[in-house]
Amino acid sequence: MIGTKGTVVAVNGNMISVHFDGAVSMNEVGYVKVADKRLKSEVIRVRGDISQLQVFEITKGITVGDEVEFSGDMLAVELGPGLLGQVYDGLQNPLPQLAAQAGYFLERGVYLDPLPQDASWEFTPTAKEGDKVERADTLGTVKEGAFTHRIMVPFNLYGTYTVSSIKGAGSYKVRDTIAKLKDEKGNEVPVKMSFRWPVKRAIDCFEERLKPSEPMVTRVRLIDTFFPVARGGTYCIPGPFGAGKTVLQQITSRFADVDIVIVAACGERAGEVVETLKEFPELKDERTGRSLMERTIIICNTSSMPVAAREASVYTAVTLAEYYRQMALNVLLLADSTSRWAQAMREMSGRLEEIPGEEAFPAYLESTIASFYERAGIVRLKDGSLGSVTIGGTVSPAGGNFEEPVTQATLKVVGAFHGLSRERSDARKFPAIHPLDSWSKYKGIIPSEKVAYAHSFMRRGIEVEQMMKVVGEEGTSIEDYIIFLKGDLIDSVYFQQNSFDEVDAAVKPDRQKYTFDKLLTILASKFGFSDKNEARSWFNRLRQKFLDYNGSKWKEERFNTIEREIEDTVKSQSQGLDKAAEKILG
Ligand SMILES: Nc1ncnc2c1ncn2[C@@H]1O[C@H](COP(=O)(O)OP(=O)(O)OP(=O)(O)O)[C@@H](O)[C@H]1O
Ligand SMILES: [Mg+2]
Repeated sequence: MIGTKGTVVAVNGNMISVHFDGAVSMNEVGYVKVADKRLKSEVIRVRGDISQLQVFEITKGITVGDEVEFSGDMLAVELGPGLLGQVYDGLQNPLPQLAAQAGYFLERGVYLDPLPQDASWEFTPTAKEGDKVERADTLGTVKEGAFTHRIMVPFNLYGTYTVSSIKGAGSYKVRDTIAKLKDEKGNEVPVKMSFRWPVKRAIDCFEERLKPSEPMVTRVRLIDTFFPVARGGTYCIPGPFGAGKTVLQQITSRFADVDIVIVAACGERAGEVVETLKEFPELKDERTGRSLMERTIIICNTSSMPVAAREASVYTAVTLAEYYRQMALNVLLLADSTSRWAQAMREMSGRLEEIPGEEAFPAYLESTIASFYERAGIVRLKDGSLGSVTIGGTVSPAGGNFEEPVTQATLKVVGAFHGLSRERSDARKFPAIHPLDSWSKYKGIIPSEKVAYAHSFMRRGIEVEQMMKVVGEEGTSIEDYIIFLKGDLIDSVYFQQNSFDEVDAAVKPDRQKYTFDKLLTILASKFGFSDKNEARSWFNRLRQKFLDYNGSKWKEERFNTIEREIEDTVKSQSQGLDKAAEKILG
């Protein structure tokens, strides 16, 4: 198959049509030769002896008659130690090295080794000569940052092999042969510390998929308490321009309770990407005391790169996530924004002259989005250990309209929905997740009856607020007015979270549960205010105390002092608990 050659017969933006001799398959990589450069491309359609390829580079200069070499390989990534801490483009080129070699304006046709070739890794064998092994079985380990990186039988070696030789403990480079395996016919295969895997094929070397059930704690109250995400689950963050999608993902990437974070910044503004790159190495991971970057991989394509590269970056990211899941680690993949990827699909579909679906997106938009999110999951590996990939994707619907196809297609497959609201971000209520539009199918850190009870105050509070806009405050009963004030309290001191405050920015589950119970008691209390003014100023004082409480260190002196003040304040007005709530409060 290797060596199929073709010639360009048409150029249409980033898509070329190629006439070829021999065999060519879908998703195969081809290189277009332009002057002294070879531009990487991927086969996206084959019809007879004509194939269409999307080019991952600017197509300037490609003309009819140019030669194309097909590689015989699918679009793939290299997997092995040294991935952590890297910043890649969608084709797994390490961007800092690319920039150093090619200068600020990245040159076309330059592809670099994804893994450092000269780095040495301390290998400890765990398999021995004569062992029977299968794909993804561990042959040995190396230390990669804080993690034990499994050196595994390459995932494409189907069948049973016998270890015919394996290197002893020592220092090796990624392309050194560390073992030789013999298949059933006696053919010997050398195994290195790295191997390649096609990005569009899900890695499936596990015993079984489990139902995501354990919460993946993000330390964002609104998420963990009200709209939780499960380990191995999926969620989406749709939101209009500037509503806080990227900031929310950045917060999550820092504080989420996972081992590894992979950020796929596909098609966002270049400035945002640069910001992440500058900030991350300086941030410390609380659990390991090391730089956050050591457990992070960033895949970035800015909107100035060709659309095909955006698609590649999404698949590259999820493949790397699945690879680390095979090592019994918990991985979080954040994709920002999947709308840019969908736009890339639309553009290519248009060039292929396919029959368009809604808003000119291709008819397969839904199934493509679904099969991407399906690569998330918590799995039981062959050795009995668990690993997970959780996927969170942002969607940027034009005008913030959630009815558009990308949001709708994503909604159908994810387990939680964190819809950002323009109204809330304009009012600087962050995170701007809408308390009524959002939902989650997962179990959170707090019993659902308690959550539902608190949520009902949010909902009724908003209803009263809407009503007051019509009838005015005078036309509202004191009972309704108190519901409004209670809803507003929980919104101000629990839903909203100050990401710039050292303490409030990230709240551990124990503290969330503790504060939540305190708030529930207030929500469930009956108050006997003589008028609305009294009620309003009392709630204002309470809110201010609560905000100070949120900003003070957990169970330290200041915290305890404010807590007593809050309790005294509540006692001074409370006329006992609502009977219906007593059961819930437990
Ligand atoms: N949690 C937050 N706390 C404080 N400010 C925030 C928060 N989230 C967002 N902001 C403010 O809103 C601005 C826009 O946020 P962000 O860039 O995340 O929006 P976005 O939804 O990603 O926008 P785009 O659609 O352009 O990508 C930020 O620069 C910041 O000023
Ligand atoms: Mg953004």
